[in-house]
Amino acid sequence: MINKQSRRSFLKTTAGLGMAASLPMPVMSQMSDTAIPLIKRAIPGTTEMLPLVGFGSSAAVMPIMQTGPDVVSELLEVMVNLGASVIDTAPRPLDIDTAFGKVLQDSRWKDKLFVTSKMGRGDDRNNRSITKQQAIAQINQTRRLFNRHPADLIFNDSMLDLDIHWPTLMDLKDKGDARYIGYTMSNTSGHEDMIANMKKYQPDIIAVNYSLVEPDAEQRILPMARDMGIGVIIITPFGGGDFFKRVNNHPLPDWVADFDCTSWAQFNLKYVISEPAVTSIVTETTKAHHFKENILTATGRLPDAQTRRRIKAHFDSLAA
Ligand SMILES: NC(=O)c1ccc[n+]([C@@H]2O[C@H](COP(=O)([O-])OP(=O)(O)OC[C@H]3O[C@@H](n4cnc5c(N)ncnc54)[C@H](OP(=O)(O)O)[C@@H]3O)[C@@H](O)[C@H]2O)c1
Repeated sequence: MINKQSRRSFLKTTAGLGMAASLPMPVMSQMSDTAIPLIKRAIPGTTEMLPLVGFGSSAAVMPIMQTGPDVVSELLEVMVNLGASVIDTAPRPLDIDTAFGKVLQDSRWKDKLFVTSKMGRGDDRNNRSITKQQAIAQINQTRRLFNRHPADLIFNDSMLDLDIHWPTLMDLKDKGDARYIGYTMSNTSGHEDMIANMKKYQPDIIAVNYSLVEPDAEQRILPMARDMGIGVIIITPFGGGDFFKRVNNHPLPDWVADFDCTSWAQFNLKYVISEPAVTSIVTETTKAHHFKENILTATGRLPDAQTRRRIKAHFDSLAA
C-alpha cells in the first residue's frame, strides 16, 4: 500500500519512472501531505532530481530585520515537509543576508535545500554594473553567510556584463566551488540576448520568466534549452502577481479537475511545469498556505499538449 510506505522508499522506488505524475486522485487523497510524492525533473546531463516547485525568497527575506526569522522559517518548514528543495536567492545587504544565512543553516533543512545564488549586479540603481573583483566579493560573502560549500548554483544576475563575469563562474566550477553555473533574464525584452548568450556561453542552468502572462519563452528559449541539454528554472511564474489581476473575478472552469487543479494559481503553474524543458520554478510568496498550494501543483496529473492549448486559449479569452 502506497500510504503505508515511507515517502523516502516510495520515491526511491518511483524516481525516474514518472509514477508520481500518474497516481490517481483517490490514492493521492488518502495520503498525508508529507507522503505525497512531488514530481521531479532531472537537471539535464545528470541524475540529480529537482522538485518542480520551489521558493522565490525576496518578499519573505527582505523585511527579515523587521519581521525576524519566523516568516522565512515557516516557509522553509512547509517546503521541506512537502519534499521541495529549490530556493532562489540574490545578494542582499549584509545584515539581511547574515540573518537569512542563519535560517538557511538550521539543521532541520540545511542538507535538504538546493540554494541558488547570484553575482554581477550592484546596488546602485543608476548603474548596476560592478567589477570582476566586486562580483567575486559578492560570491564570497554569500558563500560565507550561507555556509554552502560548494555552492549549488551560481547565476550571473540578469546577464549583466556576462563577458566579464562568465570566466569567474567557469573558474568557480572548475575548482569545485560551484556545482552548477548559469545566468538569468526576467524580462521578455532580454530574451534575444539570452538566446545569443546560450550559443556563446554554455550554462548548466538558465533562469527565465515564463507564465500564462508572459509565455514568450516557450517559442524559442525553452525548446533551445531542451535541445542543448540546459536546465531551466522559471522565475516570475505569476508575472510578479499580474496573473491574478487577470483571473481574480472569473470562475475557475470545471474541466481543470481533469489535470488535478484546484485553484487559479495551480491553473497557471500546471501550465508552466508541464512544459517539458522546465526543470523547476520558484514562486514568491510570504504566505504558507499559498506556498503549500503552489508546491502541491507538482502532484497528480499534468495537462497534455491538447489541454495546454485549452488552458492558454481560456486564459487569453479573459479580459486583460
Ligand atoms: N533577475 C532575476 O534573477 C530575477 C528577477 C525577478 C524574479 N526572480 C525570482 O523569481 C521569484 C518570483 O518572481 P516574482 O517576484 O516576480 O513573483 P511571482 O512568483 O511571479 O508572483 C508573486 C506574487 O504572486 C502571489 N502569489 C504567489 N502564490 C500565490 C497563490 N498560491 N495564490 C495567490 N497569490 C499568490 C504573491 O502574493 P502573496 O505574497 O500574497 O502570496 C505575489 O503577489 C523571485 O522571488 C525571485 O526568486 C529572479
